[in-house]
Amino acid sequence: MDIALSPEVINFFMSKSFKTFLKHTAKDFHNQSVNPPVVRASTIIFKSMQHIRKTQNKAKKNPTGGHYDYGRQGTSTTHILQKILTKLEESYHVFTTPTGFGAVFLSIFSVVRPGDEIILADPVYSPTRLLTQDYLKEFNIKSIFYNPTDLKTLENNITKKTKLIFVENPGSNTFDFQDLKKIISIAKKNNIFTAMDNTWGTPYYFKPIKLGFDMAIVSATKYYSGHSDVMGGSLAVNKKVFSKVKAAERITGLRLGPDDAYLITRGLRTLDVRLDRHRENAKKVAAFLSRNKKIKLLYPYKKDSINFKMWKKYYSGASGLMGLKIKSKNINSVKKFVNSLKLFGYGYSWGGFESLALHQEFRETGNRRYMKLAKDEHLVRFHIGLEDPNDLIADIKQALRHLK
Ligand SMILES: Cc1ncc(COP(=O)(O)O)c(C=O)c1O
Repeated sequence: MDIALSPEVINFFMSKSFKTFLKHTAKDFHNQSVNPPVVRASTIIFKSMQHIRKTQNKAKKNPTGGHYDYGRQGTSTTHILQKILTKLEESYHVFTTPTGFGAVFLSIFSVVRPGDEIILADPVYSPTRLLTQDYLKEFNIKSIFYNPTDLKTLENNITKKTKLIFVENPGSNTFDFQDLKKIISIAKKNNIFTAMDNTWGTPYYFKPIKLGFDMAIVSATKYYSGHSDVMGGSLAVNKKVFSKVKAAERITGLRLGPDDAYLITRGLRTLDVRLDRHRENAKKVAAFLSRNKKIKLLYPYKKDSINFKMWKKYYSGASGLMGLKIKSKNINSVKKFVNSLKLFGYGYSWGGFESLALHQEFRETGNRRYMKLAKDEHLVRFHIGLEDPNDLIADIKQALRHLK
């Protein structure tokens, strides 16, 4: 993967810790550049027909190896990113997609067929809920949602038709942490595929494939890129599902372009540094917010909570995304609180260097089966960025004056 590097040198870098590997990998010794080139291609040209056949045979023998005869299969730029992510995930392979949602779709499309059933965590990302419960229904695929805090609702809903358990951890907006080992053991006992959306923690904090999931999704739009200027997704797989995903990837053409792959690779160089700082900043903001009686923190902060225990059991750190469940009879004061923040942008997505805030309408949480919000409860989402945390806390403090 390091252009013009010997296998010995590549193995030397691969043997180092991920933090060191990230800083040294993907150098371009051919062009004497510290970063890899962006290789853009539709047509890939060969010296002769024999060379085309040779490459195609190599691709057949080694399907993870980066042999291409057409640009839709990728170029060396996408291959480098896939190799870096495969090391980070400690997986068999990583597929890269044009968006994170593309990776969600690919995971489902790879293993589920008409007549099958899917069981999903109730607080999945709401487009994932729409895709499964509404759209796939038209293809005779049934979706059932389980309560992340009561896994009997998972076990009791398994039938002979259940093909996939789709977990998102923590749950979108409510940040429920689940007992992941238990979910895997239920799946294995019943011979069911498993996928987990791991966008919140990324494999820097938790590695789903290592624990036993078949597939792990990350929206690369978020922390991988880290600079709010590119969309992408990754789907890590184990050996068991590799060929199924490879076939689905080929037939859907869901592949990331080289310019986006380059930007994501560039972002990854500092993934560890940024995530460590997001974690520290979020912890300071959480400590401040936890003193406010109107706010229940949806973040692994309070040591006596079940959420904290489940987070601690599996994760080595926490990212910058958190929820605030606010108790107030005055919804306008909640909106005023959010609108009075000066250092937080209002906008979708997260995982960039900047802080963001959103007041969540109940419909945005996907009309869940197991979540009920009382009339005087409101959800606000914060993404804690890389600003000085004292400035963020001062900003939140002045905005909180409006909360009644
Ligand atoms: C948990 C989660 N999964 C998947 C996605 C989809 O990622 P993308 O926006 O890159 O399609 C998002 C986007 O917000 C998300 O929050």
